[in-house]
Amino acid sequence: MEKIHVGLCGLGTVGTGVVKILQDHKEHIKHKLGCEIEITKVLVNNMEKKRDVVIKRDWLTSDPAELVDDEAIDVIIEVMGGIEDTNKLLERALENKKHIVTANKDLMAVHGQKLLRLAKKNNCDILYDASVAGGIPILRSLSDGLASDHIQKIMGIVNGTTNYMMTKMADEGLAYEEVLKEAQDLGFAEADPTADVDGLDAARKMTLLANLAFKMELHLEDVDVSGIRNITQEDISFADSLGYTIKLIGIASMNHGKAEVTVEPTLLPKDHPLALVKNEFNAVYVYGEAVGETMFYGPGAGSLPTATAVVSDLMEVVKNIRLGISGSAHIDPQFDRQLKEDKEKYSRHFIRLDVDDQAGAFQEITNIFSEHEVSFAKILQLPGDQEKTAEIVMVTHKISREQLLMSMAKLEGLGVVKRLISHYRVDGEE
Ligand code: NDP
Ligand code: HSE
Repeated sequence: MEKIHVGLCGLGTVGTGVVKILQDHKEHIKHKLGCEIEITKVLVNNMEKKRDVVIKRDWLTSDPAELVDDEAIDVIIEVMGGIEDTNKLLERALENKKHIVTANKDLMAVHGQKLLRLAKKNNCDILYDASVAGGIPILRSLSDGLASDHIQKIMGIVNGTTNYMMTKMADEGLAYEEVLKEAQDLGFAEADPTADVDGLDAARKMTLLANLAFKMELHLEDVDVSGIRNITQEDISFADSLGYTIKLIGIASMNHGKAEVTVEPTLLPKDHPLALVKNEFNAVYVYGEAVGETMFYGPGAGSLPTATAVVSDLMEVVKNIRLGISGSAHIDPQFDRQLKEDKEKYSRHFIRLDVDDQAGAFQEITNIFSEHEVSFAKILQLPGDQEKTAEIVMVTHKISREQLLMSMAKLEGLGVVKRLISHYRVDGEE
């Protein structure tokens, strides 16, 4: 029986899971594929480190050339992380006609399109389902299960660290620093957690989702990103009293051939399916023109969940090798990259203002909003922190980003407005 030989780059959290699944599910995988998969080399940094899986000592190497230049290796699994050096390594592997499976969202968000083109040129596959939402087969669902539909909008909780933090801050009233430390101790956070809390990790994943969903080559720089650093307990509590939960949400939408991709703290109605996704879990809500609403939920990280996606991709690669159709997975973008302008980006907004508590102040504020044709769905007014001040909390009806920015700029110049405390997008309701 034919055997497929694999070089595994990385034997950390995900790499260890890959070895375990290949060992524990060996018979099932062999039955499905009609051939065996064998790891023949494993690239690591530290040859002496104790490993959590049983592997042959002579598999290990710290020399990448032993994998990418080895003629006997058919597929490279890259689960070591890194961007530039890893990109060079994978380019060399593709030039040597090796298929690739990777979980590396950082790399794919920056160099993915070039790597996909190089793979196609060399009749190789490069699959990366594990790079978005770990164990949830969302990239596969977009490219296979929902392939016949036009995807109009994707909303996702694609970062487990921030979802864990927002859950604990909202449900248990815990402080930001405390919950960040917990997320780090539990192993969800990146080595540098600023990528999680500032939204960069989610932005990378949303870039990959949007590219695939909209068949357009969008770049990481096209994503408007803001993270969760500035969210306070007061924001959470006001949102709650108006019927909302705050989450870090990635949104990709397409209207009239133009795309918008954002990652930002967003208020969702408390009964919205994404508002009910707690702790480190991920979920991706997809709106297709024909299918309507679908939601994918599950673990966004972790050794075995992520490794499941990696090994499933590996099995897809093996099927393609056996069918002789490798290199066909990448389809060139169908549409030119076109982004919405601010006047075309519509959503509701939650706005908190600290104002002078004096006659006419409220009218001055509403005058500015009405000048820009902004109307409100909900308004609260409460006594402010200091004497003779008031806090106004409002939720607008749908307005354009241009209307929002122009109103905000005018408000900041208004004498009665002491401070713009915070403002967030509101989504998930008409
Ligand atoms: P780890 O840090 O746990 O493991 C990295 C592995 O790669 C280690 O075995 C390390 O060697 C090896 N390695 C790193 N750099 C080099 C190098 N330059 N040369 C040789 N070996 C190297 O990472 P994870 O397993 O957590 O993540 C791997 C990839 O998967 C990343 O791209 C990550 O973003 C992605 N991912 C991870 C998820 C998770 O839940 N952890 C979820 C989804 C995606 P050594 O063991 O000797 O130190
Ligand atoms: N730091 C990431 C998260 C890991 O919290 O979701 C999975 O990509």
